[in-house]
Amino acid sequence: MIKNHFNKEIRKLISASEWLIVRKEYKPEENLAYESLFGLANGKMGNRAAFAEGGNKKTLPANYIHGVFDKSEAFMRELVNTPNWIDLKMYFLREPFGIGDKKELNNFISVLDLKKGILFRSYIITTESGRKTKIEKIKFLSRSNKSLAAIRTYITPLNYGGLFEFENRIDATITNFADFPRFKVKHLNTLELNNLQGKGAFVKSQTRDFGLEIGTAVSVDVKKNTGEDCLKSKHFRTFGEIACEFFDLEIAENETVMIDKLAAITTERETSNVYQSCLEKINKFKKVGFKEELNSHIKEYNQLWEKADLVIEGDSKMQQALRYNIFQLMSTPSPEDNQTNIGAKLLHGEEYGGHAFWDTELFVLPFFNWVFPNIAQNLVEYRYNLLEKAKENAEINGYQGAKYPWESADTGEEECPAWTIEPDGTCYRCYVADYEHHVTAAVTMGMVNYVKTTDDQEFMKNKGIYILVETAKFWLSRLTFNEEKDFYEILKVTGPDEWHEPVDNNAYTNHLAKWNIDYALEKLRKYKKENEDFYQKIIKNCELELGFEQKWQKISQKIYTVAEQGLIEQFEGYFNLEDVLIKKWDENKMPLMPKELKGKPKNEISILKQADVIMLMFLLENKFDLETQRLNFDYYEKRTLHRSSLSPSIHCLMGLRVGDTKRAYDYLERSAYVDLDNNQGNTREGIHAASAGGSWQAVVFGYCGMKIAKDGMLSFEPNLPTNWSKVKYSITWKGQLIDVLIKKDKIDLSYRKRVPTKKIKYKFKDEIKFVN
Ligand code: BGC
Repeated sequence: MIKNHFNKEIRKLISASEWLIVRKEYKPEENLAYESLFGLANGKMGNRAAFAEGGNKKTLPANYIHGVFDKSEAFMRELVNTPNWIDLKMYFLREPFGIGDKKELNNFISVLDLKKGILFRSYIITTESGRKTKIEKIKFLSRSNKSLAAIRTYITPLNYGGLFEFENRIDATITNFADFPRFKVKHLNTLELNNLQGKGAFVKSQTRDFGLEIGTAVSVDVKKNTGEDCLKSKHFRTFGEIACEFFDLEIAENETVMIDKLAAITTERETSNVYQSCLEKINKFKKVGFKEELNSHIKEYNQLWEKADLVIEGDSKMQQALRYNIFQLMSTPSPEDNQTNIGAKLLHGEEYGGHAFWDTELFVLPFFNWVFPNIAQNLVEYRYNLLEKAKENAEINGYQGAKYPWESADTGEEECPAWTIEPDGTCYRCYVADYEHHVTAAVTMGMVNYVKTTDDQEFMKNKGIYILVETAKFWLSRLTFNEEKDFYEILKVTGPDEWHEPVDNNAYTNHLAKWNIDYALEKLRKYKKENEDFYQKIIKNCELELGFEQKWQKISQKIYTVAEQGLIEQFEGYFNLEDVLIKKWDENKMPLMPKELKGKPKNEISILKQADVIMLMFLLENKFDLETQRLNFDYYEKRTLHRSSLSPSIHCLMGLRVGDTKRAYDYLERSAYVDLDNNQGNTREGIHAASAGGSWQAVVFGYCGMKIAKDGMLSFEPNLPTNWSKVKYSITWKGQLIDVLIKKDKIDLSYRKRVPTKKIKYKFKDEIKFVN
C-alpha cells in the first residue's frame, strides 16, 4: 500500500491510487529521468524533481520561468535555469543526511499526485554512523499564486536525538547544462543577496544579455508535530552566490519536526521591483501558511480536472498514461500570458532551449482549443505578437510575407542555430532553419483550427487574417516556376522527416503551402463579400496589389503537389534511394535501426525519422481517398523509425483511419508511454510535449472519432478498442461546455451548464442529434 509509507497527514492528503504515478525504487541512475517525469509546473514556472536534501551527485535541480531566456555563450537564447530555491541541507553532529549520504536506504517511495499537482516522497536513511532518520516530503508549485512554491519536510530521527543543524539555501551558482562541460552556460549575474529583512534569504539575479531581473526569496517555518515552535537560532550567511539561512533545533528520538520551506519567485516581466514583490509575497505566504496555500492550489487543480479529465474504462494503464500527459500539458502554459509559448520539452528540461516548434500548433494546440480555449487564445496570440519578427525573418532570408522561425523563444527571431557542436566537439553546420520551412504553414493551420473550434471570429478578423495573408505571401515567394514542366515547385526544402535534407518538392511542404495560399484566398473572398470596407482595409494593411487574387489562384493551381492518388513519393527522387525495411523492434515496440543504416548517410536510404507523407494525409484528409491513405500508410510505416516522438501518435490516428486497429493501438502505447517508459531514452532532457498532445488527439479524434465535419458540424464516429467500455471527457464547443460520453455503440452529449436559447446539433455516424 502506497499510503502506508506516509504519516497520517500525508495519508489524508494523497489521492486515490489511480491518480498516482509511483517510483518504488531508488536507483541513482534513474534520477535524471524521474526529475523530468515528476517535474511540476504551475503556468508560470517549472521545477524539476531534484533532491533538495543535498549531497547527491546524480541530481540536476532546475527552475525555469516562462519568458526568461538568455543567450550569453550558448548557441541560442535558451530558457534560463534560475536560482535553485529547493535546497535544504540537513546535518546532525556535522554529518549530512541527504539522500546521497546514505549507507542504507529503506522504504523509498516517490509519488506524483496528478489529481492535486503534488509530489510526495518518503524514505528511511541510515548514515555511516548508523543513525536512522525518516524523511517525508510534500512539494507543490502553487497554481493559485503562481509566484509561490513550497516544500514541507518531516524529519523523524528513529534511533537518536539531539541538536540538528540546517541550511536553507538559494543557490545562484546554478548553470544550464550543469553536467555537460562543453555546453555549460551561466546565464545570470547575481546582483544582491540579503536576509529578506530577517525573514529568510533573498537573491536578485539578472540575465546577462537583456538585464532582466529575477528575485528569489525563501523562508522557513519550523514546528513540532505537536504544534510547538522549536527553532533555536537562526543566522544569515552568504557563500559567494549562495544565500543561506542557517538554523538549528532540538529533535528527540522518534519525535517529528516539520520544516516548511516557502518560496516566492518574481521577475521584471511582472514587477518593476523584484525585491519588494518577493518580500510582500513571502510575508503574505507566511501569514496564510503552507496548508492553506496548498488547499487553494488543490482547488485550482480540481477545477482544471473538471474540464480536462478523460476517463477510459477498461484500460487502467492507458487511463493513467493519458492523465499523466494531460496533467503535464495543462500545468505548463500560462493562462494569463500571451507573450510565451510551450517549449518542446515543456518546462521540464533544457533540451531545445525551451523553444516552441511546430509541435505547438499541430500537436499541442488542439488539446487547448477543445479544453482550455483561453490558453489556446494566448498561444495563437503569441504568434500574432511575433508576426512583425516573422516578416523580418522572411526578408532576411530573401522572401516576402512572414516566415515563422523553426525555433521560437521570446523575441521571435530564429533560435535554431546555424552551427552547433556534437558531444565529441566536432562543429557542424545545422541546416534545419535554412530548409525546414513547413512550420510557417503549421502556425497558420493551428490558428485556423483554433478559430474553427472556438468560433473566435474577432481574433480572425483582427489578427488571424494577417497571419494567414502574410504566410501565404511567404509561400508565394518561396515557389519557383519550372518552365519546362509548367509548374511551381519548392526546391531545397526539408519536410518533417529531417533525415532527408534538403530535397526538392517535398510532398508535405508543397501541399501545405498550397493549402495556406488557398485558405487565405477563401477567407479574403469571404470578407470581400461580407464587408467591402473591411476587405479593403486588409488589402491596404497587407499591401496587396491589384489583381492579386487571380494571380494567387493561378499560381496555386500550378503548384506541383506530387500526386493525390496512389503511392506518393515523399520528395523527388525518394523512390530511387536504397530501399530498406524495418525488421526488428525493442521491448517497447520501438523499431530498431536496421543494420544497413549504420555508417551510411541517412539521405541515401529510404528509412524515415518520422511521419511525413502520413502526416500530410492526417492533416489534409479530404485531399486523399481512403485507398490512397491505406496504401501510403502501409508503405511508409514499414520504413519509419520514429526517432521523433511526434511520429507514433500520428501513426495511431492514421492506423485507425485506414482500419489497422492493431497497429494503431501499438502506436498509441508508444506515444502515451513515451516518458513513463522512457521509450525514446531521453526523458532526462524533459517531457515530450508533442506526444502528450498527440496522445490526447489519438484518443479523442482517433478512438472517439470526434471531428469538425466539412459542413462545420461537430461529428463523431467512435471506434473504441474491444477492451474499452467507455470514454468520457469534456469539450468547449463554440463557447459551451459539453460532457461527452462514448460507449461501444452509443454516445451521449450533455451541457455542463445549460444555455436554454442554444441548441447544439452533432452528427453520430451520419445521424443528426442534439446535445441534451
Ligand atoms: C523533430 C521535429 C520536432 C523537434 C522538437 C525533432 O527531433 O524532428 O519534428 O519539431 O524535434 O520536438
